[in-house]
Amino acid sequence: MKTTETLEFDHLIIGSGLAGLSSALHLADSGRRVAVVTKRAMDDCNTRYAQGGIACVTDIEDSFDEHVQDTLNAGGRLCDEKAVRTIVEAGPAAVRELIDLGTRFTKRGELGYTQDGDRYDLGREGGHLKRRILHAGDITGAEIERALIAACRERSNIEVFEYHIAIDLIVSRRLEMPGENRCFGAYVLDQRAGVIKTFLAASVTIACGGVGKVYLYTSNPDVACGSGVAMGYRAGAKIANMEFIQFHPTILYHPQERSFLISEALRGEGAVLKCRGKDGKLYEFMQKYHPLKSLAPRDVVARAIDNEMKRSGQECVYLDITHLDEAALRRRFPNIFEKCLEAGVNMAKEPIPVVPAAHFLCGGIKTDVRGWTGIPGLYAVGESGCTGLHGANRLASNSLLEALVVGKAAAADIDEKFETLRKLRLAPSAAPAWASGNATDSDELVVIAHNWDEIRRFMWDYVGIFRTNKRLERAKARIKMIRKEIEKYYWDFLVTADLVELRNIATVAELIIDSSLSRHESRGLHYNADYPYRDPELDYTDTIIQREF
Ligand code: SIN
Repeated sequence: MKTTETLEFDHLIIGSGLAGLSSALHLADSGRRVAVVTKRAMDDCNTRYAQGGIACVTDIEDSFDEHVQDTLNAGGRLCDEKAVRTIVEAGPAAVRELIDLGTRFTKRGELGYTQDGDRYDLGREGGHLKRRILHAGDITGAEIERALIAACRERSNIEVFEYHIAIDLIVSRRLEMPGENRCFGAYVLDQRAGVIKTFLAASVTIACGGVGKVYLYTSNPDVACGSGVAMGYRAGAKIANMEFIQFHPTILYHPQERSFLISEALRGEGAVLKCRGKDGKLYEFMQKYHPLKSLAPRDVVARAIDNEMKRSGQECVYLDITHLDEAALRRRFPNIFEKCLEAGVNMAKEPIPVVPAAHFLCGGIKTDVRGWTGIPGLYAVGESGCTGLHGANRLASNSLLEALVVGKAAAADIDEKFETLRKLRLAPSAAPAWASGNATDSDELVVIAHNWDEIRRFMWDYVGIFRTNKRLERAKARIKMIRKEIEKYYWDFLVTADLVELRNIATVAELIIDSSLSRHESRGLHYNADYPYRDPELDYTDTIIQREF
């Protein structure tokens, strides 16, 4: 398969969630030409599925210091405190811009509160000692995405390429050019036309979201295959803290519905986790694990649930919010209420069966707080990036905040450096065409399906909530073999979107395994039964992996 055309833009954004579109809109303010490449429809991204909301200090009862402290406490002493403060303090202005763009957050009056009815309602989630989460009912991400897409559509200098999947970045190191590594663009597969296009730009921003699909059970949509991290790694960027995979404690437990999130905001409104005892009755258990009980930070809650399920032999635990009546639940959680009803559970009358599932990557491509990777022209924002905000365990609803603030900051950084970046651009005539394999169609699609399933299953079994050195070593042996097979297969045959995604999840799986193996302690989300949790103050460092050329 060969490149069919070369397209030149000033800026290329890969991904169309909050981080990518926030960057695109700010870059477009300069009047320069921005391309947004996204592998499905524009709104098919992790942002759309965010339920809880966006953590931001907006109440006079709250303060930046308290939000910073809650973030650090959740993060297992691995957060970058300076980055945390910068992002937290930039929150209110960035959220105001989101509201000005047309995002409608829920006001207290809409929930039936007569007092302060005109003020925004503030939710609470695990690890937050204050109510500080702005939300749009229980479909916050979808509402934000709606407003951003509408704003992008109005900008004539933003061109959106849907059903275009990025294959690889074009960097000088891979072209064997001398000097410092720098980024020139990306090879992109136009899935509908079945051709590969070369995109060249002065800046490239990876905003590809998370890696949930690396695991068998996840709250993430199908698009979350870790393509940003995998491409960043192959391009020579530093990859940090991949062992910190956050498992959301409460995904609806239902045979046909394995990824529907039951927002932590329910626990913010008083829902309590319970486990079924031998006598068939439901018992609270979180008091054994943390003083904040059901509202403890996510790493603690997910591990506690895992432990209770194993101890009791039950396949799920339960979330009980029956203290609220149906009318109140329908107002505050309309989407979750309906979905549970469809699954046969009336949450006003009975507890909701839930299990943990892979939810969020706290590591990613190492960047500064402006999303810069250290490679001229290459940025990573949102879940693909690792600014140091989340440390070893993300505080709930800090991710939309980071996506919004860092997306904007990256655009500012690119603006400042634009003249220099423009001079470093690669001329179209110097960009080698993409060429892979022998351009014959493969009749062995079963290889893709098999490897895909195998990776996701052993990642769940061996590199999940509960890890041991033996399990990690087992996973390492498997992934080495599969990666070798994929690399051979990948170069032998025609490139398809499935193959690109398989290659990416395999790369990300290996990064997660290698990072986990190199952390000789339990910390935050990384629990390895062979190493105890230690005093969290002791020699805390990031895990960094960088490809050698
Ligand atoms: C949730 O609503 O529980 C998810 C929020 C988050 O992951 O921050």
